[in-house]
Amino acid sequence: MTHPAAAPQSLIPVNPAPGNFLWWQEGIIYQIYPRSFQDGNQDGVGDLPGIVSRLDYLQWLGVDAVWLSPIFASPMADFGYDISDYTAVHPLFGTMEDFDRLLAEVHRRGMKLLLDLVPNHTSDQHPWFLESRSSRDNPKRDWYLWRDPAPDGGPPNNWLSVFGGSGWEWDEQTGQYYYHAFLREQPDLNWRNPEVQRAMLDVMRFWLDKGVDGFRVDVIYHVIKDANWRNNPPNPDYRQGMATYDQQIPAYSTDQPEVHQIVAMMRAVMDEYDERVMIGEIYLPIHKLVTYYGADNRGAHLPFNFQLIVLPWNARQIALAIDQYEGALPSGGWPNWVLGNHDQPRIASRVGHAQARVAAVLLLTLRGTPTLYYGDEIGMRDVPIPPELVRDPQGLNMPDLDLSRDPERTPMQWDASPYGGFTNTVPWLPLADDYRRVNVEAAQRDETSVLTLYRRLIALRRAEPAFRIGSYVPVPAEGNILAYLREFEGNRFLVILNLTHRTCHFAMHHLAPEGKIVLDTIPEREGRAVRGRVSLNGDEGMVIKLP
Ligand code: NOJ
Repeated sequence: MTHPAAAPQSLIPVNPAPGNFLWWQEGIIYQIYPRSFQDGNQDGVGDLPGIVSRLDYLQWLGVDAVWLSPIFASPMADFGYDISDYTAVHPLFGTMEDFDRLLAEVHRRGMKLLLDLVPNHTSDQHPWFLESRSSRDNPKRDWYLWRDPAPDGGPPNNWLSVFGGSGWEWDEQTGQYYYHAFLREQPDLNWRNPEVQRAMLDVMRFWLDKGVDGFRVDVIYHVIKDANWRNNPPNPDYRQGMATYDQQIPAYSTDQPEVHQIVAMMRAVMDEYDERVMIGEIYLPIHKLVTYYGADNRGAHLPFNFQLIVLPWNARQIALAIDQYEGALPSGGWPNWVLGNHDQPRIASRVGHAQARVAAVLLLTLRGTPTLYYGDEIGMRDVPIPPELVRDPQGLNMPDLDLSRDPERTPMQWDASPYGGFTNTVPWLPLADDYRRVNVEAAQRDETSVLTLYRRLIALRRAEPAFRIGSYVPVPAEGNILAYLREFEGNRFLVILNLTHRTCHFAMHHLAPEGKIVLDTIPEREGRAVRGRVSLNGDEGMVIKLP
């Protein structure tokens, strides 16, 4: 494997004016979990025609790009993250014609469409794996990670599966184990094999040729494993109640030095096309995360930054993480922020409804591309799923640990009609009990809803270059207040966020003699002038225009 020889890239334009940045730098991404967004054919599962019928809503909201979790042919052992044909649409979601129409309709509205690329593993029903497992001398044997048993007949090493138990599965017929970082139905590909590399890069080209605007790349940091198959060390921080996977530090099964050559190869494919974006799913500490921008910024355009998901909701810790992240970004690298996704408890459940509003202000006023998770904009909460209705394999495999991801994957709550306007029949996961009250239609009519807040934040971001492309300067604050300045060409905004339920004060006189609140989680306070000591209610976040 060699690096493609190329000059260093900077993503900061020579003339940093609005419109001179790339669309994904100035834009806002919205993640759709396709099973749960809108059911078009009334079978209880969301689909592509359903998404098309809701695009006007997304346009009204003001987002710029839509990322779809996998829509490809799949036995659905991991709800689409187990792919059996990378270039076919699963019939549950529709046809390739439906996909083409969706892409055209997204583009017609001036928006972009991103797909999920799952290069680390396939389904065990993928023809590649069926061939690979058929015999030891099959030409595709080396496309996956086959190993002889350890001398005692057990697995080749101690690597664990994220979804519980050993990462190794015994194959009786050929007398070897194969490795799967996730389900046994999701065998890991061997990315050291050039044929695998070529095949997956061609998958990318297939969709890029169709005109998709980029990919979110699933567990990109997993794709290459230690060449010597060394055992992972124990995790000294492991405590009972954590997933079994957390018993170890995955030092040899993830984030290997060679992964960056693979990321660069993928990026080189993206660069064969115009203005496409590659986002990497990476759960790593900041100093490792930023290495995925690649040497000379020739890696992922946006290594997903999950700090706001993994950190406790604490102003000092978040302020520190923002500073560390801003400081660690490579020159020319572009930041990004995420509050939620289909694998994590929803923000409204993590921090409560009142703080979820503050979180919205944070997400949309920080420097860098924000990604919204469907339903968070109406304050959807995790929905408790009765044990007999649990569908997520992570939940089913580790029933005592409360790890099911179903609660954050429930149907979008559109209106107060039966099944919330999502479908006419029993949906694949139950709707939230409160959907008659908490839904898009009701929130659109309510000036004080979190949806109205999101829409206004998005409008503010679109209107003010300071938020899209301006500088970020942290402002020292005490206790549970988070404060920072955003500025572009003399247009200065002060953001003050109270991350507690209690009132507090913030002294702003050293920044400006006075200012005007242009946006507030408490709408009644907008338009007011502030000076000196600013008083904040509990759960209040405000954006102040400084002179
Ligand atoms: C990460 C995805 O986000 C998650 O949903 C999936 O289960 C695993 N990767 C395996 O593909």
